[in-house]
Amino acid sequence: MKTLRLGLLGFGNAGRAFAKILEEKKQEIQGSMECDIIVTGITTGSRGSLYNPEGIDLKKAWSELEKAGHFDKDGKNYCEMTSLEFVEKGEYDVIVEMTPLDIFTGQPATDHLRRAMERGKHAVSANKGPIAWHYKDLKELAEKMKVQFYYETTVMDGTPIFNLKDETLKFCKVTEVNGILNTTTNYVLEELATGKAYDDVIEEGKRIGFVEADPSMDIEGWDAAAKVTALLNVLMEADITPKEVDRTGIENITLKDIQKAESQGKVIKLLCTGTRTDGKVKASVKPTLVEKGSLLSVISGTSSVLQITTDLMGKLTIIEHDPELLQTGYGVFSDVLRIVRNLV
Ligand SMILES: NC(=O)c1ccc[n+]([C@@H]2O[C@H](COP(=O)([O-])OP(=O)(O)OC[C@H]3O[C@@H](n4cnc5c(N)ncnc54)[C@H](OP(=O)(O)O)[C@@H]3O)[C@@H](O)[C@H]2O)c1
Repeated sequence: MKTLRLGLLGFGNAGRAFAKILEEKKQEIQGSMECDIIVTGITTGSRGSLYNPEGIDLKKAWSELEKAGHFDKDGKNYCEMTSLEFVEKGEYDVIVEMTPLDIFTGQPATDHLRRAMERGKHAVSANKGPIAWHYKDLKELAEKMKVQFYYETTVMDGTPIFNLKDETLKFCKVTEVNGILNTTTNYVLEELATGKAYDDVIEEGKRIGFVEADPSMDIEGWDAAAKVTALLNVLMEADITPKEVDRTGIENITLKDIQKAESQGKVIKLLCTGTRTDGKVKASVKPTLVEKGSLLSVISGTSSVLQITTDLMGKLTIIEHDPELLQTGYGVFSDVLRIVRNLV
């Protein structure tokens, strides 16, 4: 039986969702893949860290955080190691980057991944910042160091997008991408359509958890821009950053605009697109009129949709329906399984 040692950077919603799947499937993986996956380190921003090269008790780790909001300072694996210290000195085979997104720089997540790969470690990122800002460099580093680097959950959680392209659509060239990738703006546009005032929609959205405390990254289209950049960098080798996306948010959309669209048999959606013109990939995020009844028009609430056009397989549409944290955790889990499968 082989052993694969993971280091988890960040143990919030995504980190714990992943840890729970890993724990639940541990025996099945041992049985079918002859691999024991253990976690040797977990770091957080302010809740302490855990380190044990022999393996950490994951159930105990998430219970402590969920009950006390902090790892037990008297626990035998407790330490104050920072993420970068763990990345540079810890014992592990795969770094799993699940720290918060910095949408304008992709840091410090990019440095975590870079330093780990420079040490010859495999890398998985749930954080889309590095894929939106530094994908080409990171990919080249992974190739140079002969390590595996995956990032499935960065766009549409565990829904297979990058896996689909890599594993199932071999030799298909992606020529165009369209999608509705930001769910907050879906929600806000739908609620505005019922006649509610913008401020009331935002406040209610915050209360029920559909809108972030600071909604500007979603409303102004930055989150969608980071997602479409990540997609285009990977699927179309775009080598662009979110700054190069032609971006318009939904902050100026009014009930009048929505009603006008309705009268033309259309709905307004924040559409992400990527096309190649004269060899250069162009990306945009814009409120767009889409035909009522079309696949794009029926995507609502927390669901998202991606259409990819390819040379050999035409246009494919992938919908993620009402995702929960389980699907976020699964995306990370599927990347780790890919690493196990490809171990020599
Ligand atoms: N949640 C989702 O549905 C989802 C879906 C796809 C992708 N993602 C991505 O996954 C990542 C994590 O998201 P999340 O929802 O789990 O966020 P979260 O619940 O806010 O958790 C973030 C975790 O990272 C820790 N952290 C902060 N700074 C750190 C640092 N420098 N080193 C190590 N840990 C650090 C936090 O610790 P403290 O609490 O102590 O600060 C916390 O444990 C983000 O990049 C996000 O974009 C999330």
